[in-house]
Amino acid sequence: MIAEKQTSSATYSQENMPDYYRPLESRTVLTGFTGGIALCRAVDYSRKIISLGAGIIPVMTRHAAKLVSPVTMAALTGKKVHMELFSLEDAASIPHIELARSADLFLVMPATANFMAKAASGLADDLLSTVLLAFEGPVLFYPSMNPSMYSNPVTESSMRRLRELGYTVVDPDQGKTACGEKGRGRLPSWPAVRQSILKAVTPQTLKGMKILVSAGPTREPLDPVRYISNRSSGRMGYAMAESAATRGADVTLVTGPVSIQAPGVRDICRVETAAQMADAVLGRSAEMDVIVMTAAVADYAPCQACDTKIKKVEDKLTVHLKKTQDILAELVNRRTRNQVIIGFCAETGDLEARTAEKIRNKGADLMVGNDVTMPGAGFDVQTNRVIVVSADGSVETLPMMDKREVAERIWYIVEKQFIRSSVD
Ligand SMILES: Cc1cc2nc3c(=O)[nH]c(=O)nc-3n(C[C@H](O)[C@H](O)[C@H](O)COP(=O)(O)O)c2cc1C
Repeated sequence: MIAEKQTSSATYSQENMPDYYRPLESRTVLTGFTGGIALCRAVDYSRKIISLGAGIIPVMTRHAAKLVSPVTMAALTGKKVHMELFSLEDAASIPHIELARSADLFLVMPATANFMAKAASGLADDLLSTVLLAFEGPVLFYPSMNPSMYSNPVTESSMRRLRELGYTVVDPDQGKTACGEKGRGRLPSWPAVRQSILKAVTPQTLKGMKILVSAGPTREPLDPVRYISNRSSGRMGYAMAESAATRGADVTLVTGPVSIQAPGVRDICRVETAAQMADAVLGRSAEMDVIVMTAAVADYAPCQACDTKIKKVEDKLTVHLKKTQDILAELVNRRTRNQVIIGFCAETGDLEARTAEKIRNKGADLMVGNDVTMPGAGFDVQTNRVIVVSADGSVETLPMMDKREVAERIWYIVEKQFIRSSVD
């Protein structure tokens, strides 16, 4: 049998990609599962938490075990499931203290109205509530229930009390709940859950900062059904936005059309064309401390879009294009105070020289360059390899990493250079 030739792009295809992004490596997350209908989604999330590098300790309430069998839970998490406060098997070690001391982070997911009421009043009548009392690290509750149960003043009072006690209570999503009713009470999406977890273990180095990130491609219409666009997936920009929010920033994301899930940020503005991107970014720029132009904005757009579909009649078709506004240059023009302006550029060779030329021409504070012809870099892949060029010409070359890790490294460089004088 002749072996198939492995091309460099195949080597870095999504399926072959090793899990580079493991921000919870060496952390142990105690996951408390209570008896809510969102338990199955919570189990799925706990598998995702494991894939971020964390070790998991599953603890179930008795009522949770009526909804999902502890055997299923053990099989899906690959861990022993703890349920009994008075366990003969673990008696010598005093399980609730042992478990509380073993974890870095404590999640209650889903958090039933019942469990939050118990936790808010300090009841410790089962293993999970007793471990909670003995635990000294960060605790996150993910309430999930029928909208009427959620808006019941007793539940509201439990959540208020939990927040007063220093616990984090993550707001549920709005929408159709399992019982068929509409309202607030759905377990949040995975990006929101992931972000809340990462935030709990990340120093809040960007707290109080207003940051705008642009992401994705733009679409320049030719007629009502066709457009000119590019291959940007939005992943790099979304990773920049999510990483800034995880570090405590107040993030606004201005995004072109992409097919990936939105990150958990305060404000998302969706645009389509380069002109709309310019309006959205420039209209918000004055109040921002940091602006990151990750979006792959079209350099040229059709002079005029046809009102009706262009028919396939002529052998050749000429489309006249006009230059779009240079948003990055305009941001630099308008800069009035100590704003930090970061540009991204996609190149196809001679990366260092071209990125250095771009930062000189545009006057940005940092320019992140990536050679989109390199395997594992650029558009539509999960990883990237970038260089970060500063205004003084210094260059930092990062190895190939998951885009989320690239984003973390870029924020680290931004903090080191512009936000605080020393970063540990
Ligand atoms: C099928 C079913 C689904 C339930 N879903 C929820 C829910 O989503 N949220 C909630 O707060 N309670 C829900 N309950 C009620 C709780 O299971 C009940 O209050 C229980 O006492 C919670 O126990 P625990 O907090 O110790 O797990 C549900 C009950 C049943 C039978």
